[in-house]
Amino acid sequence: MPKGTFFFGSLKYDQLFVIVILRNQGDTMKHETVLKEEAIEYLNIKPDGIYVDGTLGGAGHSLRILESLTTGFLYAFDQDDFAINYAKDVLKGFSNYLIIKSNFRYLKQRLNDLGIHKIDGLLLDLGLSSFQIDDVSRGFTYLKETSLDMRMDQSQPLTAELILNTFELDELARIFYVYGEEKNAYKIAHRIIEKRPLKTTMDLVKICDSVNYKEKGHSSKRVFQALRIAVNDELTVLEDVLKDAVDLLNPNGRLVIITFHSLEDRIVKHFFKDESTLDIPKNLPILPTMNTKFEVITKKPVYPTELEMERNSRSRSAKLRALKRKDV
Ligand SMILES: C[S@@+](CC[C@H](N)C(=O)[O-])C[C@H]1O[C@@H](n2cnc3c(N)ncnc32)[C@H](O)[C@@H]1O
Repeated sequence: MPKGTFFFGSLKYDQLFVIVILRNQGDTMKHETVLKEEAIEYLNIKPDGIYVDGTLGGAGHSLRILESLTTGFLYAFDQDDFAINYAKDVLKGFSNYLIIKSNFRYLKQRLNDLGIHKIDGLLLDLGLSSFQIDDVSRGFTYLKETSLDMRMDQSQPLTAELILNTFELDELARIFYVYGEEKNAYKIAHRIIEKRPLKTTMDLVKICDSVNYKEKGHSSKRVFQALRIAVNDELTVLEDVLKDAVDLLNPNGRLVIITFHSLEDRIVKHFFKDESTLDIPKNLPILPTMNTKFEVITKKPVYPTELEMERNSRSRSAKLRALKRKDV
């Protein structure tokens, strides 16, 4: 027996150690689905309907959709290979679904290519999965030293490092100000240009620390959020997919969106309002025949329950909004 090996029941101590390590890895490689039952309720699933999950992730929502379908079908999109492989395992008991590796901005085109022109519901649970956040090598964290990556789709050429080391001052400052609401955007952008080339997350954190030293929260939080949005073009893809989604919805079809920060939520809220309001000048009468095709079915955003927020701190910033195509 090698030195340092102990017995615990019938297991050697070093075997137990391996089990503990594997269990811990399994725990971190898990995504806790946010607003799971609420999303399913607002999708109002028809058992024979065609549904799209634009953000497959750990497949928690997709699994619930499949459990609600009989002869219906699910198309699930993700741009992250890790999520897709993980999800295949979660969904292995079902055959009425297809996973499509693509940015959801191309959702309408990809569905049309498959002969699908109408759907009964689309769910988007935006942002990152815990796999992406917890995998330090993906570069989303400002708490550890790692590469400045931040890509959800690892085959795209644009990384955070490329932005930081090549973008002009004004463009860098715009990203930090608009996507991060960072008030010291220009100062930080100036310092980045002075200190180029930046190689790791800590190179950026040191710069944010030196400018935001009076901050109560973490000095780098807003800059990291801004970079992540820029790398993945998160706001533009959301605007694009919303426009396509309303063309795809069948009568009574639902669009359910879960957002995690105010910039995304603002886009969804305004889009839903525009689609459900008649655009008629104030002095003109509204005739009974005039109507909008859509109705917002969440007058206020839906938040996770206290219990969910307690169990899963990442759900704290979540907001769900839903739009319905009227039955006409
Ligand atoms: C919050 S997670 C979804 C979690 C999932 N609803 C669940 O229950 O496990 C978001 C997922 O959407 C993916 N994603 C985000 N933006 C995307 C986009 N524009 N196109 C395709 N996938 C995207 C991410 O890669 C991530 O896996």
